[in-house]
Amino acid sequence: MTTVRFEAARDAASAAALVVFIGEGGQLSAGAQAVESAGGGQLGRAMKAANFTGRKGKLLEILAPSGMPANRVLLAGIGDAAKADARAFEDLGGEVAARLQTLEPEVVADFTGIADLAVGTDVAAAHFAHGLELRNWRLDTYRTRLKDDQKPRLKSVVLAGAPASAALLADRLQKVAAGVAFAKELITEPGNVIYPESFVARCRKVLEPLGVKMTVLDEKELAKLGAGSMLGVAQGSARPPRLLAMEWNGTGNPDAVPLALVGKGVTFDTGGISLKPGPGMEDMKWDMGGAGAVAGIMLVLAGRKARARVVGVCGLVENMPDGNAQRPGDIVTSMSGQTIEVLNTDAEGRLVLNDCMTWTQRTYRPAVMLDFATLTGAIIVSLAHHYAGVFSNSDGLWEKLDAAGKSVNDLVWRQPLSEPGGHYDQMIDSTIADMKNLGEKGGGSITAAQFLQRFVDEGVQWAHIDIAGSVWRPKAAPLHDKGATGFGVRLVDRLVAEHFES
Ligand code: BES
Ligand code: MN
Ligand code: ZN
Repeated sequence: MTTVRFEAARDAASAAALVVFIGEGGQLSAGAQAVESAGGGQLGRAMKAANFTGRKGKLLEILAPSGMPANRVLLAGIGDAAKADARAFEDLGGEVAARLQTLEPEVVADFTGIADLAVGTDVAAAHFAHGLELRNWRLDTYRTRLKDDQKPRLKSVVLAGAPASAALLADRLQKVAAGVAFAKELITEPGNVIYPESFVARCRKVLEPLGVKMTVLDEKELAKLGAGSMLGVAQGSARPPRLLAMEWNGTGNPDAVPLALVGKGVTFDTGGISLKPGPGMEDMKWDMGGAGAVAGIMLVLAGRKARARVVGVCGLVENMPDGNAQRPGDIVTSMSGQTIEVLNTDAEGRLVLNDCMTWTQRTYRPAVMLDFATLTGAIIVSLAHHYAGVFSNSDGLWEKLDAAGKSVNDLVWRQPLSEPGGHYDQMIDSTIADMKNLGEKGGGSITAAQFLQRFVDEGVQWAHIDIAGSVWRPKAAPLHDKGATGFGVRLVDRLVAEHFES
């Protein structure tokens, strides 16, 4: 965790790296002006030499003027100040963390005298710190021979000249960052470390002390409940499956109608007997990204004591080929009673999720159910890594997700879905069972969603969010390095705050 501190004015003694803000056209904040005076015009010359005009998101590093108690000064471009909003400052915080992470233990950002922003200086400062903290996350557990200059050192950020009213918001955002970090940790850990039982253990350790009620079903209990679809996937692995339910109720009413979240937690997906090709198979450690997001969300909601009842259910299995693995052509009976012809053992996510959805609806009677799943490679073909695909039976729910996503930059794009019996739905009809787990040629993400829709109860507003592309990204962005993104955590935190808190 990054420490966030507020100071009324910049404390001359503490600045290892100083960040000052520059508006479009080279407009200096009061903090930047102080550096300019101390350096006798150095800052202005450096800006000219580097053609730095304060464009949004740009950074320019200069050596701190001699006599100033700092190693370096980072000029941070905010662009048109009137348009500089919370997201702009978040991104800047992220860029600063990426630049300074291995160089400095402390960053002091000077918010004094920035002209007419689109948000208050308090909001700008809190979000700057949030972006910095999000980007500052790393998993270095396994790097035992990291050279000193590669080690992350950035531990704290000081917000100078920002009103103390920002402290409350900063505190809330730190709870959000903790949830994102937890999701990233679970997602980044390899398949030999995170498997169904160890996933449960890590969640217990982090969430139980916060008052999250944990329910865990093992393979025997799942068999008793008739979860033949999920168990079919699990049967090829030496690691037994788990269904993990995490409940947070901050309403004071034990009977409040909950929001339900369901996460695909395939801790490693080899494809099973329909084995995936070798190259790139290591990526399939991310295949529990939906469950990771759900766990991260629960940490945020419990951490900030959200006044909502939310239940997060994770379907945890490992998809392996062995002598006991299910075969292409096998027919399984799901908890719902519907039968499924398993034509491809690599389309396992939907087999895990349907039993979890059935159990969730029976146990908690939610009015709204979201599922997060790294379900199809096809969604990466459609949307690359920029958007998650949303399939929903409710226009209203879609609009809420879209708005929440835009405000936190967890972007979603709606995809088509047929009514039951419609043309896309017919593509998963089987000649021998109620349905098959594979579509026909084309529309692979849609037929996966149609499959799930067959397990949604009457009257439940549901959205399936295919995060196969968004859970990790091959390139860094302001708020994350390449790798795990923590997608979904900030999205649902926003959604809950806007629509599910009393
Ligand atoms: N976990 C994969 C989907 C995936 C692919 C996620 C690439 C992230 C990156 C899923 O279980 C899968 O294998 N889906 C198949 C479905 C097909 C067999 C119908 C796919 O997308 O190829
Ligand atoms: Mn698969
Ligand atoms: Zn999978």
